[in-house]
Amino acid sequence: MMTPSIMSAVSRDVRKRVEELRRVLEHHNHQYYVLDTPEISDAAYDRLLRELQELEAAHPELADPGSPTQRVGAPPAAAFAPVRHRLPMLSLQNSFTAEELGEFDRRVRRFLGREEPLTYLLEPKLDGLAVEVVYEGGRFASGSTRGDGTTGEDVGANLRTVRSLPLRLRADGPAPPPYLEVRGEVILRTRDFARLNAEREEAGEPPFANPRNAAAGSLRQLDPKVTASRPLAVFFYGIGDCPGFAPPTEREALEALRRWGLPVVPGAEAATGIDEALAYYRRLEGERDGLPYEIDGVVVKVDDISLQRELGAVARSPRWATAFKFPPRQAVTRLRDVEFSVGRTGVVTPVALMAPVRIGGVEVERATLHNEDEIRRKDIRVGDTVVVTRAGDVIPAVQEVVPERRTGAERPIVFPQACPACGARLTREEGQAAWRCTSLACPARLRESLRHFASRRALDIEGLGEKLVDQLVERGLVRSVADLYRLTKEDLLPLERLGEKSADNLLAAIDRSRRTTLARLLFGLGIRHVGEQVARLLAEHSGSLEKLEEASAEELTAVRGVGPEIAASVAAFFRQAENRRTVAELLARGVSPAAAPRAATGTGPLAGLTFVFTGTLASLTREEAQALIARGGGRSAGSVSRATSYVVAGEAPGSKARDAARLGVAVLTEREFLDLLSQRGVQ
Ligand code: IVH
Repeated sequence: MMTPSIMSAVSRDVRKRVEELRRVLEHHNHQYYVLDTPEISDAAYDRLLRELQELEAAHPELADPGSPTQRVGAPPAAAFAPVRHRLPMLSLQNSFTAEELGEFDRRVRRFLGREEPLTYLLEPKLDGLAVEVVYEGGRFASGSTRGDGTTGEDVGANLRTVRSLPLRLRADGPAPPPYLEVRGEVILRTRDFARLNAEREEAGEPPFANPRNAAAGSLRQLDPKVTASRPLAVFFYGIGDCPGFAPPTEREALEALRRWGLPVVPGAEAATGIDEALAYYRRLEGERDGLPYEIDGVVVKVDDISLQRELGAVARSPRWATAFKFPPRQAVTRLRDVEFSVGRTGVVTPVALMAPVRIGGVEVERATLHNEDEIRRKDIRVGDTVVVTRAGDVIPAVQEVVPERRTGAERPIVFPQACPACGARLTREEGQAAWRCTSLACPARLRESLRHFASRRALDIEGLGEKLVDQLVERGLVRSVADLYRLTKEDLLPLERLGEKSADNLLAAIDRSRRTTLARLLFGLGIRHVGEQVARLLAEHSGSLEKLEEASAEELTAVRGVGPEIAASVAAFFRQAENRRTVAELLARGVSPAAAPRAATGTGPLAGLTFVFTGTLASLTREEAQALIARGGGRSAGSVSRATSYVVAGEAPGSKARDAARLGVAVLTEREFLDLLSQRGVQ
């Protein structure tokens, strides 16, 4: 029997550890989801989370809905309860041209009786779903959709699963107010949208038309577990009701949200006068395709909130803001014909060949028709007038037919029975929408596999372009990805458009790719469902290709982020004799993937981290910064490579910032760099 005093001492320690774990996990969540600069590996995060889960299970008296363990847990709802917004959620009036934007500015200044230029806050208009989230006493309390602006739906249990949404606000700066409503947009990144659609197609479910619909569909799921499985993100751009807190400007409102740890709409900038707003719009339009999420314009807001109050609203829109819209990424054109292309997993995709049309500044003449079921569901025929959409760098898709334009001369689309590339039989598994080529020797599959294997994010073999891949396959020089490592100069010289120097360069690039990482190799193998992120998780978990080859589907499901479908696909891949042979040949021919890059075993809070500087720092010299890094046990380097942990960009950054973007290395601002040092106790 423990004496009461010992018991309470034990639980005090447990309580302390639980609180510490919650704080540490919140910190890493913030680094990962809000700042996009993770500091620890997923595996290390998992270990902390598991420790917290175990402690909470053993000590139910310590349960707390604000704990990082409490994201999923609410049971499925029967319906969403209505929520009345304390303050209406207004909508924005649109401007479509520079003239209309100028008219908005004149109207605002006339109303205020001001000659001089106004300060505006400019923000990207995120194309997602508007939500309102309530924090009480600094803790997530509830959340709702915008609905009709007066009444929305209670989607609190689903919002709680959105990883970038803090369950507790940070209080290390100014304390959060007792009651705070924040407003923002829930979005799905373009890549996640493409992946979700690919999964839906495989599962025989209709794909979403665009990332916005996908975000809305995901947030409005009755079962929070489904929402949790979709990688939604949220960005806030405003404050609703918040008694006792009255920031003087929009800028200060955003800054307050940022300090409380909330993810704030990225890229907001202040402008003086409307010409600067126009310049911002043009710049953002140029960057639009490269952004990881969809934006459909720029929101221009009068920055001064007392002026906003003076301006007020007409009907449901404020006079102090406008949405300056980009041209829609949607166009109408004619479907001339359909081609069937074979992907690396053998899936046969119907591709629309259309009369060329410009969509958001890009000329488009091919678009996916997804699969046979989609063609039937939308009743698309050759000769139809169709609506085509495009999101970011995702392949354009035919969204629907314009039936009024039918002439009667349209022909139905006939799906092939045999592989259009090699003539092998096509099969369609039960419950799946895709027809697949059954031949492993199919040249179209091989070509796609090689292209993927050599691509920048996989083995990164520079110089192995499409034309070359085609020739290697046609001449029978390469029958699997492993054959690349057998190529000789004599093999290459007879190829078209390949001189002596290019052949040498290509062989050197192939040789360099032997020293790759396990994650890149796994991604490059093109296993179904294994994208870059999953490849990283698997690499980190298994540490070697041999271990992964032997892992059962059950073992793989234990890896965070790996569900049963992915696990089954990986296990099935390595069960196939053909694939095992390819892997063995890769290893035998000198491909030696390094296990996931782990932190080096030095000492100090920055051990294992390598920093590269570019541009001029404002608050310290580069030498001082390097000295701080050395003091923390980290390393500074002169150029960016895959081994770089962070690039720190000061004023007027040079090409190293571009190198970082190309290699996927995180870039820190000076402020973020200093924050990182202070969080790690480096002074
Ligand atoms: S401010 C009264 N800022 O656009 C001003 N809205 O048409 C309220 N949106 O319902 C909105 N990005 O869903 C604002 N940076 C941004 C935005 C944004 C997207 C959406 C929001 C709103 C709609 C207004």
